[in-house]
Amino acid sequence: MSLYAIGDLHLNFMVERNMDQYGDVWKHHEKKVKKHWEKLITEEDTVVVTGDHTMGRKMVECRDDLEFIASLPGRKILLRGNHDMFWKSKKTPALNQEYKDRLYFLQNNFYSYGEYALVGTKGYCYEGKDSYEHFLTIRKREMERLKLSFDLAKEAGYEKFIMFLHFPPTSVGEMESPFTEIAKEYGVEKVVYSHCHGKLHFEDSFLGEVDGIQYELVSGDYLRFKPQKIL
Ligand SMILES: [Fe+2]
Ligand SMILES: [Fe+2]
Repeated sequence: MSLYAIGDLHLNFMVERNMDQYGDVWKHHEKKVKKHWEKLITEEDTVVVTGDHTMGRKMVECRDDLEFIASLPGRKILLRGNHDMFWKSKKTPALNQEYKDRLYFLQNNFYSYGEYALVGTKGYCYEGKDSYEHFLTIRKREMERLKLSFDLAKEAGYEKFIMFLHFPPTSVGEMESPFTEIAKEYGVEKVVYSHCHGKLHFEDSFLGEVDGIQYELVSGDYLRFKPQKIL
C-alpha cells in the first residue's frame, strides 16, 4: 500500500484543445499517464490528483476526463484546480455522491491513509493576474477551507497530516505564506502541490525541506506524467 500524487493532467477528451503546443512532454500525454499509472499503481494504492483535471468547462465537457481517471487503478482522491470549473465549491458533496466509491473529492473534508489524514484545498498564490484585493479575498477563503479540514481531521483523532494544494504554497519570491504557516501550525510532514508548468516555473516555490516540512511539486509535466510516491 502506497500513497502517490500527480496533478495537472489537463485532459481533453471532450474539448478541442491541443496541449501539444506546450511542448513535447504534452504529446499524447494521456497515454503517458495511463502507461505509467497502470505500471506503478495497484488497487491497494491511493493517488491524490492535485487539480486541473480537465480542459472542459461545463460538466458535460468533463465526463470522459473524469471517467478516464476513475478507470485507472487505485483509490483516486481529487483536489480542485483553477481549471476545474465543473466543480463549484458547493458541489463537493453532490460529486462525492455521484462518483461514490469511484472518485473522492477533497474539499472541506479529509480522507484517511493509515494513521495519516490527507487534507487539502486549492490554495492560492499571487500571479499578477488579478487585483491584490481579489487575491487576498480568495486566499482568505482557501485558508478557512484548509483550517476547517484540518480541524475535522483533528476532531476525528488524527495527529499526522499530509497537506495538498493545487497552487504552490508561496507566491514567487516569498519565504513564507499563510499556507506554510498553517502547515507548521498543524505539524504536517509534507506539502504536495502542482499548478507550475514548464521549466521556467518549476522553481516558483519550495522544493525539498523547509522548516522541517518536505515540499514536493507534482505537476504532470514536471513528473513527465509518472505519479510521484509520497509515502
Ligand atoms: Fe495546470
Ligand atoms: Fe493550475
